[in-house]
Amino acid sequence: MSKLIKKVALIGGGVIGGGWAARFLLNGIDVNVYDPSDSAERSLNEMLSNARGAYSKLTMAPLLKPGKLVFFDSLEKAVQDVEFVQESAPERLELKRSIINQIDRYAPEIPLICSSTSGLKPSDLQAEMQHPERFMVGHPFNPVYLLPLVEICGGEKTSCKQSNSR
Ligand SMILES: NC(=O)c1ccc[n+]([C@@H]2O[C@H](COP(=O)([O-])OP(=O)(O)OC[C@H]3O[C@@H](n4cnc5c(N)ncnc54)[C@H](O)[C@@H]3O)[C@@H](O)[C@H]2O)c1
Repeated sequence: MSKLIKKVALIGGGVIGGGWAARFLLNGIDVNVYDPSDSAERSLNEMLSNARGAYSKLTMAPLLKPGKLVFFDSLEKAVQDVEFVQESAPERLELKRSIINQIDRYAPEIPLICSSTSGLKPSDLQAEMQHPERFMVGHPFNPVYLLPLVEICGGEKTSCKQSNSR
């Protein structure tokens, strides 16, 4: 991946997914979100409003033009035409595996898929993927929009090579 990312998909828009949304949007990157909860859109917009206030106090530089936020009613639609996907669903192995397998299936061209998991192993999460080499854990520090720190960790099948071919 050598070019700058312009649009991402976030699967799960709770505390951490919402934090990722704020960080991306405030850095000018467009964000697609899929979260099946009826209250996800409202609570994510509340979080964004807090993040905007906090972010503007972090720097004396003018804020960038924010990215565009779009909510989708299906995971399949949310992962179309994006360059990166971050999964931030509840911490349950079977649920996350099912979500990651769907991302893998619906978005075969995306070069990098990450999970925010705090405690699950990347090798377990990528076990059933068709293209597991593009998967890794990207565990953010919380609050995500204030702390630009992410622990990254590949699994047994994660590729160590940088690739522009996918
Ligand atoms: N809370 C933290 O401090 C923290 C820090 C770093 C990483 N994490 C990790 O981030 C992940 C999310 O944690 P959180 O605190 O945001 O939890 P959360 O409960 O606040 O958010 C989870 C969201 O996922 C949504 N969801 C449920 N099923 C879904 C599905 N099938 N598809 C898409 N979305 C679905 C829920 O509606 C909810 O909005 C976990 O893996 C957790 O370990 C949490």
